[in-house]
Amino acid sequence: MSDLQNTQDDVKAENRIFPPPAEFAASAAISGMDAYHALCKEAEQDYEGFWGRLAKENLTWHKPFESVLNESNVPFYRWFEDGLLNASYNCLDVNLQNGNAEKVALIFEADDGTVTKVTYRELHAKVCQFANGLKSLGIVKGDRVVIYMPMSVEGVVAMQACARIGATHSVVFGGFSAKSLQERIVDVGAVAVITADEQVRGGKHLPLKSIVDEAIAMGDCEKVRNVVIYRRTGGQIGFTAGRDLWMHELVANQAAECEPEWVDAEHPLFILYTSGSTGKPKGVQHSTGGYLLWAKLTMKWTFDIKPDDVFWCTADIGWVTGHSYIAYGPLAMGATEIVFEGVPTYPNAGRFWSMIEKHKATIFYTAPTAIRSLIKASDADPAVHPAKYDISSLRLLGSVGEPINPEAWMWYHRNVGQERCPIVDTFWQTETGGHMMTPLPGATPLVPGSCTLPLPGIMAAIVDETGNDLPNGQGGILVVKRPWPSMIRTIWGDPERFKKSYFPEEFGGKLYLAGDGAIRNKDTAYFTITGRIDDVLNVSGHRMGTMEIESALVANPLVAEAAVVGKPDDTTGEAICAFVVLKGARPTGDEAKKIATELRNWVAKEIGPIAKPKEIRFGDNLPKTRSGKIMRRLLRVLAKGEAITQDVSTLENPAILEQLKQAQ
Ligand code: PRX
Repeated sequence: MSDLQNTQDDVKAENRIFPPPAEFAASAAISGMDAYHALCKEAEQDYEGFWGRLAKENLTWHKPFESVLNESNVPFYRWFEDGLLNASYNCLDVNLQNGNAEKVALIFEADDGTVTKVTYRELHAKVCQFANGLKSLGIVKGDRVVIYMPMSVEGVVAMQACARIGATHSVVFGGFSAKSLQERIVDVGAVAVITADEQVRGGKHLPLKSIVDEAIAMGDCEKVRNVVIYRRTGGQIGFTAGRDLWMHELVANQAAECEPEWVDAEHPLFILYTSGSTGKPKGVQHSTGGYLLWAKLTMKWTFDIKPDDVFWCTADIGWVTGHSYIAYGPLAMGATEIVFEGVPTYPNAGRFWSMIEKHKATIFYTAPTAIRSLIKASDADPAVHPAKYDISSLRLLGSVGEPINPEAWMWYHRNVGQERCPIVDTFWQTETGGHMMTPLPGATPLVPGSCTLPLPGIMAAIVDETGNDLPNGQGGILVVKRPWPSMIRTIWGDPERFKKSYFPEEFGGKLYLAGDGAIRNKDTAYFTITGRIDDVLNVSGHRMGTMEIESALVANPLVAEAAVVGKPDDTTGEAICAFVVLKGARPTGDEAKKIATELRNWVAKEIGPIAKPKEIRFGDNLPKTRSGKIMRRLLRVLAKGEAITQDVSTLENPAILEQLKQAQ
């Protein structure tokens, strides 16, 4: 465990409280705090009974489960393990049977504004055809398929088709580099990659297929038999005969029916890579039954989804938010949802508001970083302010991915929510599969900047470094005390790392460690997340390990040593600040600028543009203890531009601090 410094910081008192609007509460799935407490009590009194009831009521089982929770091999918990189901069946077929066949499932808006609507019947047919196509390639239950696609109907179809045949998908965000893609293809042992010729974002065409080619050419991808390509732009691509196929040709003669592969509830639905504090990104493995239950239930509880809602989650399918709240949760609820290909600033920064107006979105779920950048944009250009659009269709707003600062919360509340819409600040992680702590819009009084209380059945707590409970008002380590159905099952191929990372022995091996610090308010007992307590950064809601970026930097032939820390940033939440020692002399002036640019581009190539350091500082050395340990705490202070007040007597080379004050 690294330092707890963040969690000790005083969280500024926030006295504003916003009770749920009466008319919202009147029709909400969980209406009023009594209803919330009743559910919490049900879970406390009969944990298995609670989850068993919800799983029976919310999912359609091919074979019902008898066992709710198997705890015989802690922390490898097994939920509903003797039940059989299929995720795609639950998202699609169920909707054909319950009167939603002609309902629009997806409203897809392309970068250029072109809109395509897909009904549940059409989506079912597309998924079945593609599932049959994948089967014709010899892909079977348990195979892993990497999906490297733009935001598209086809991306959702690809995920659902894998689920239908029991293949485990691993979606790689389209902004990752060839090297990152290759590492994931190799680690997961993919038999196929599904991609597109190009993606279109902000009016630009960006390659995808050529990056797949590059990744495979890097080696160790022999298991990949096929690359299936969705033709998005018709741009020029290389084509490897015998390996590459067009998606439209693959599905051309396939039947629009495909019997789902019934899998047991613990069957891995997907593996999604995310960053940890050490080593390479880890493949977070999720189950089918427990995961889907929570994706669906949180749509009901947190988003209070109703048949007439138009739901819009702006995340990318490459992140867990896009899995739970685009590809699975909304469809399992039979909802209508918007899928957006583009970026919030194209053709101008009013794009989100104009899309809400156009599609009459009722629930809007986005990241604080997007809100902050749109605040700036509308300050600069009043024409793109939400007030210029008719966004009166909105009834609920959500926030995800990083702490939302009270100022951004208030702007969101006033200008987007028109002081009418509750805001659900949803705290969760790739590992948790769905929301963990969030207000319930028809029950919980809101406090800006707080994710308020855990959902019923989620036993969140704050403990000290020995695992003992801390009183409200005292910052500490966020843990979850009981397993829950949608939790991570293991790290793909590395069960030991799973145990060590999330259920460390120091805490008795049974507490789930989120990796975040938190504090509970003395009066309300509300939780506020105080930030990561490990070496993980959150830049624009994207999670990155400092070590990954450091490894990328030292892989550059010019670099001898590098240390990466986060620094607060008004727009992106945190920004990456890299301290670099070159093999040659410390550069200054234009030379330093040139090398800094070169290193930024290098990191973009090694990991992806999202990992580019915002700031690079060169030194002759890094601040180290006499035993050679880099003092990151000091680097964090330097990155913030603050004076060092800590004791530096253990420092081997105090003079180095002066040098590192300078940004390039
Ligand atoms: O630090 C927390 C932050 O994002 C981390 C999880 O990142 P990731 O696995 O990429 O998932 C992001 C989407 C769920 C957490 O450990 N985080 C996420 N949501 C919030 C948050 N921090 C504060 N408030 C939130 N609502």
